[in-house]
Amino acid sequence: MGQLRIPGPTPCPTEVLQAMARPMINHRGPEFAQILYDVTDKLKQLFQTKNDLFLLTCSGTGGLEAAIVNTLSPGDKVLSVTVGFFGERFAEIAEQFGAEVIPLRFEWGRAVDIDSVRRALQAEPKIKAVLVTQNETSTGVTNDLAAISAVVKEFDKLLLVDAISSLGSINLPVDDWHCDVAVTASQKGWMVPPGLAMVSVSPEAWQAYEKAKMPRFTWDFTRAKSYLERGQTPWTPAVSIVFALSVSLDMMLKEGLANIVARHARVGKVARDGVKSLGLSLFAEEKYASNTVTAVTAREGLDIKKLVKIIREEHQIVLAGGQQSLEGKIFRIGHLGWVTKDDIAAVISALKVALPKAGTA
Ligand SMILES: Cc1ncc(COP(=O)(O)O)c(C=O)c1O
Repeated sequence: MGQLRIPGPTPCPTEVLQAMARPMINHRGPEFAQILYDVTDKLKQLFQTKNDLFLLTCSGTGGLEAAIVNTLSPGDKVLSVTVGFFGERFAEIAEQFGAEVIPLRFEWGRAVDIDSVRRALQAEPKIKAVLVTQNETSTGVTNDLAAISAVVKEFDKLLLVDAISSLGSINLPVDDWHCDVAVTASQKGWMVPPGLAMVSVSPEAWQAYEKAKMPRFTWDFTRAKSYLERGQTPWTPAVSIVFALSVSLDMMLKEGLANIVARHARVGKVARDGVKSLGLSLFAEEKYASNTVTAVTAREGLDIKKLVKIIREEHQIVLAGGQQSLEGKIFRIGHLGWVTKDDIAAVISALKVALPKAGTA
């Protein structure tokens, strides 16, 4: 079996996978209730929040939908601040549910410019919420969420954050940075297979909920909250993934959040330095280059698809290609969750051998 170096799903420690082999239990019984309370409490520590926090049985996209349908009404104006493919998806969900989306797009590979956000908020006082991606997985850019949040809160708007590929790996103090809804998903830095989204909900988001009229059922926060009070979820949860998460959270808390964030920073640097040492360039503006995924630009004559294939077949390392307009133009190295500097050094060594074979000629 090879090394999975895509930005999710990520590799899972053996103990985490073994937890999923446990027999099923009653998801409405006391044993599950205890696990759910425990997992929720531990997640709150890693989100650095005292807000409500819910597990939803879906992938991250379901969590983004939950953020929107629980806080907004059709016709509400939302500022969609995007730097890549996943930001566009967040906006698309809002649009599908009837929000009036005001796009503020930045060139892919660049980070959000804070003054532009301020100008956009000044220009349209009726904006109700701002949608933003902390870590844009498609381009390998981490936005300065603290600065974005400061501006959004200066204008007293709701801040809905896609933190799917950052929470638990890159620092995100949800309460200090006033995130009204922050969304992540199990298959990213949490070292758990896909199947759960985790969302935090601030008191201001609850106030917005009271007035929000978008249609919702499966992701309704009130149902999630009232069931959680009984140690349950409204619908049958992905029980095995919750077992796995329970183990991974213990591992994460043992390592400590500050150490996890520092490890990702070290690993990210190994990836960036390694890529540059091979004469390749980073797709992201380096100041904002992500510590969970490194996007690498093709140089003249390099066939990215061929490179990814050689790395997979000859080195048993799975890398990710580019998405949408970036297909064939970049490749991405995922380094989040269960990852060390050595794992990424091995990727760089494999690239060194594979690169000369991956020309277009
Ligand atoms: C930043 C970001 N947003 C959204 C998503 C979508 O999440 P999912 O595929 O779990 O629905 C991803 C997944 O890669 C992501 O990285």
